[in-house]
Amino acid sequence: MSAYLLDRFPHEGTRMLSKDPLLRTQVGIVGAGPAGLLLARILQLNGISSIILERRSREYVLARVRAGVLEQGTVDTLVQYGAGERLQREGLPHTSVQLRWDGKRHEIPIVGDNGRRMTTYGQAKIVEDLILLREADGLPIHFDTEVTGFEGIVDRPAIHFRRNGATGTVACDFIAGCDGFLGVSRSYIRNFSEHSYLKEYPFAWFGILAEAPPCKDISGFAHSRRGLALASARSASITRHYLQVEPDFDIATMTDEQIWDELDRRFDDGSGSRLNRGPIIEKSVARLRGFVCETMQYGKLCLAGDAAHIVPPSGAKGLNLAVGDVRVLAESIRRLLKDDDSSLLARYSEICLRRIWPTVHWSCSMSEALHRFPQQSEFDTRMQYATLNAWVSTDHGRARFREATLGLPFEI
Ligand code: APR
Repeated sequence: MSAYLLDRFPHEGTRMLSKDPLLRTQVGIVGAGPAGLLLARILQLNGISSIILERRSREYVLARVRAGVLEQGTVDTLVQYGAGERLQREGLPHTSVQLRWDGKRHEIPIVGDNGRRMTTYGQAKIVEDLILLREADGLPIHFDTEVTGFEGIVDRPAIHFRRNGATGTVACDFIAGCDGFLGVSRSYIRNFSEHSYLKEYPFAWFGILAEAPPCKDISGFAHSRRGLALASARSASITRHYLQVEPDFDIATMTDEQIWDELDRRFDDGSGSRLNRGPIIEKSVARLRGFVCETMQYGKLCLAGDAAHIVPPSGAKGLNLAVGDVRVLAESIRRLLKDDDSSLLARYSEICLRRIWPTVHWSCSMSEALHRFPQQSEFDTRMQYATLNAWVSTDHGRARFREATLGLPFEI
């Protein structure tokens, strides 16, 4: 590829000067996370072409460990679009959530109407399923390809990218910004920062992936005076556990044995139950934040998934929210490109936000009830116990916990 002729990438309104070989497609998708991959799949099944540009390598994307708790609507969506075969075989249904505080264990049943329930299935598997499906159909995912900017967002969109030191351009009818919280797309939404809201929590989650079977007596959340702990299953032989840590926590400061000991201490309910231990195969630290960019569409650019919003992981909602956005976005694009009807697109942000804010609220409520905050007083701890107790011991609290965990219905 020849070099791109501009030394910086203009925002909308500037003419394209590039003489680069031009790729053409109907929808240019930035990011091969769950949002971008699912969008490409739904568009494909609606006869709409797309190109996915992903800055990371294929190996990196396939190996990335993320959330893994799916709402029924997410499972149904993946099945509906032909990406549910392995999910239906290997997904682990779960019908209750354990909560521990003050050294005692409690359990909240989580089964909704018509058998609605949660399913454990690692996000890495969803990503792999979608990549393999797309590759089997011979459709393009450009890995190792970093999007550097857009132009013509209002009328004739183009995406500029860099790959192996060379540059190129994708001309398209529509751009889907599915490039996560740190992507470039959000900066192309006009006045995005005036409509963005951020809350940063003063702690992080240290996550481990272990080759150890889940323990039937210990799962879910523990509120403890040493901080939150979370135990979850990824499969019948792999577990994912978390410890609340300081935001600047250094992974190297804890041995594997200390990690297991700390988990056991935080889950201790006097019963003598202990987590099953095994080799730790992955460790990572993530800051906890809530973020919403309320303007998710500008011209022929839409944001979906983490590009538009982040939830603290305590609600396990990030992926499920992304699926909700993608359903609305795919239908908005379909009506625009096939029927020249932009009325749904005009309501894209409004429809998505009806799911996003209540879900962010729930995820933040869980975070605030379960973590130990700096300088937390005994009064604050008692307030947390009151919240947790209401979720477990009152009809209203159990119903609130169940419905929020099961997730809001999709409008589209
Ligand atoms: N060019 C190309 N690709 C990019 C660029 C860029 N400039 N910037 C970011 N990306 C890619 C990232 O490398 C990543 O693979 O965009 C992708 C975004 O994927 P995710 O971060 O997984 O975001 P999303 O698809 O919205 O994920 C949905 O699932 O578990 C959750 O935390 C996850 O909440 C998120 C959700």
